[in-house]
Amino acid sequence: MAYVDLHFHLLPGVDDGPEDMAASLDLARAAVADGTGTVVATPHVRTDLGLTDAVEIRARVLELRFALATEGIPLEVRCGGELGHEMVGRMRQSELELLAQGPSGGRWVLVETPFHGIGADFHAATAELRERGFGVLVAHPERSADASLDGAAGLRRELAAGSLAQVNAQSLTGDHGEESCSAAWELIAEGLISVVASDAHGPTRPPALKLARNTLLEVGVSPSAAAGLIGSTPHRLLATGIASPRAIAA
Ligand SMILES: [Fe+2]
Repeated sequence: MAYVDLHFHLLPGVDDGPEDMAASLDLARAAVADGTGTVVATPHVRTDLGLTDAVEIRARVLELRFALATEGIPLEVRCGGELGHEMVGRMRQSELELLAQGPSGGRWVLVETPFHGIGADFHAATAELRERGFGVLVAHPERSADASLDGAAGLRRELAAGSLAQVNAQSLTGDHGEESCSAAWELIAEGLISVVASDAHGPTRPPALKLARNTLLEVGVSPSAAAGLIGSTPHRLLATGIASPRAIAA
């Protein structure tokens, strides 16, 4: 079964991902070569980086889909975003809907973990998302000071509130540095991580799900656990989503 990559900077010229359409198409070809069939395009949604207008993100996704079809690149691209937690209160409900994945009753959004750690402002933002009907996938907590300095206390509070967590493939391979690497493996060993994604940006941060799967197996993670992190859980998050407290209550 082709991979689903839930965190991927594929849109051209909007953030620190590919700078133009040609680079986006090269990155898409690399994803297909890595065994990926579906990518959620997740540009940064922050005031200092990326786009803050979800309608524009959707328009850029449609433009990219057209280019992929023209080039005959067999990659499905969904509209998403890597939401800065400080943006949550500024986003209209319709904008969050444009960036969310999963079916009705299981809608969820990808929220970027601040590098300085997970504090009260982050928890307040994700609580608002849950209140507004969205589950949360916490992006790369292993790259945050929360994981390396604070025993992942903030992440544990998030998981207790119903969030799930995603680590980057390049954290597993050590390409994000030693601290992120050891944090990623510790979080996985503790069973705190649900999903591995590429967080691909370009040639130096390429699609790497196949490499991540092989690395997991080499380190001794069971084949079924590796298949869950890389394969079945990402598929499930698109198909059935993350239940939010409001959806459960409804
Ligand atoms: Fe990212």
